[in-house]
Amino acid sequence: MTDTPVHPGYPDHVNAVRLYGPMLGEDPAELYQRMRREGGPVVPVLLDDDIPAWFVMGYRELHHVFSQSRMFGRDSRRWNMWEHIRPDWPLMPGVGWQPTVLFAEGPERQRRSGAIGDALDGLDRTELAMLTEQVADTLIDVFAGDGRADLLARYAQLIPARVIVGLFGLPEADAPELITNFNIMLDATSESGAAYQWIIDYMGKFIVGKRAMPGEDLPSRLIEHSARLTDEEIALDLLAVVGSSATTSSWIGNTLHLMLVDDRFSITLQGGRSSVGQAMNEVLWKEPPLRSTARWATQDCELGGRRVRRGDMLVLGLAAANADPQVQPVDDADTGTNRAHMSFGHGEYGCSYPAPELAEIIAKTAVEVLLDRLPDVDLAVSPGDLGWRRSLWMRTLESLPVHFAPTAPLGHQPTWDTTL
Ligand code: HEM
Repeated sequence: MTDTPVHPGYPDHVNAVRLYGPMLGEDPAELYQRMRREGGPVVPVLLDDDIPAWFVMGYRELHHVFSQSRMFGRDSRRWNMWEHIRPDWPLMPGVGWQPTVLFAEGPERQRRSGAIGDALDGLDRTELAMLTEQVADTLIDVFAGDGRADLLARYAQLIPARVIVGLFGLPEADAPELITNFNIMLDATSESGAAYQWIIDYMGKFIVGKRAMPGEDLPSRLIEHSARLTDEEIALDLLAVVGSSATTSSWIGNTLHLMLVDDRFSITLQGGRSSVGQAMNEVLWKEPPLRSTARWATQDCELGGRRVRRGDMLVLGLAAANADPQVQPVDDADTGTNRAHMSFGHGEYGCSYPAPELAEIIAKTAVEVLLDRLPDVDLAVSPGDLGWRRSLWMRTLESLPVHFAPTAPLGHQPTWDTTL
């Protein structure tokens, strides 16, 4: 074993685990087991470019970090490694500070987060389910006659973004370019900066138009909210809401995957449908869409037996903490109902009411409609041939190819490009 270079102030990081590259596509259960055995609940890790950080994988330690939001903040500008970070560092989309609700703290966070929560709470749940059903049926109509499809690219990845376009009251004609730019932004390539700027400019113009002519939609509710948000704040926070569509897509994709590979959820049987809720909860335990998030220590402290310094970055392993043997439900039956997982975060900065409930309505409707329309759907490759994206933040399949008996479309005419 060769000694890895250590940055001053990080003596524990000699030969630390390199948490990047192919290992991120590995079976997480084995990866976390190995890391826990060798490093305990808080593991020194090296991120891309061998940048040191702490990986919090103990459930108790993670709960502590979430609960102590003054000691472990969300404002990444306090990171003590910024001088070593290149502008196109691959993890930049998750850590590069932006004036959005996601990086705000204290009263500012409460003001922004409260406004989003109120605006989201104004959504009618029945209408949301109906809108999702309509989007799902329209997408299935496009490939129903083919007998095969990649359910990730042609279904799971499109539904939440499409639903959100509907909730925002965006002009249909603008949706393709918006979603394309949004996907480029999420892919974190050299084109992501330009795509991000395009979206911000678009949203800016859109909000000016909404101020002049408000409607019964999410942006109008934010504009009218007593928090008196500026146009820029609204644009950025709406972007954070759009960003959440990627987590909801992964929830749909990971649930369909579980139901296709695991006999307990055999969806060729009539009983399959009744297990959708159980499969979705099990995914939150074992393959949560957001596998990690980040915090920065506001003061020197001790965590899980490690000396963490002010300004250190902590990668919070949501999936890893769920797999902590001290808390994991003893058998699979419990993972279908037990809600003590960390997959929506926890505390002041967690995914707060009503977002998890809305995400669940979208994801559950999407899975149920697919099972209703294609009851004999089955994997078109062996489970071992499916790959996962190598992301530190997200747990997302690369594709989900399936086949099924071709069926006639129900006649939902797409008014938009369904190949995005
Ligand atoms: C309708 C879909 C969703 C919406 C609108 C939404 C919205 C949000 C918002 C606004 C925040 C920031 C909360 C704040 O700062 O006060 C947040 C945080 C978070 N969301 Fe969601 N979300 C959605 C779906 C999901 C899904 C499906 C997951 C994963 C299962 C998820 C996991 C999280 C987590 C873990 C955080 C906390 C991140 C952290 O602590 O750094 N969200 N969400």
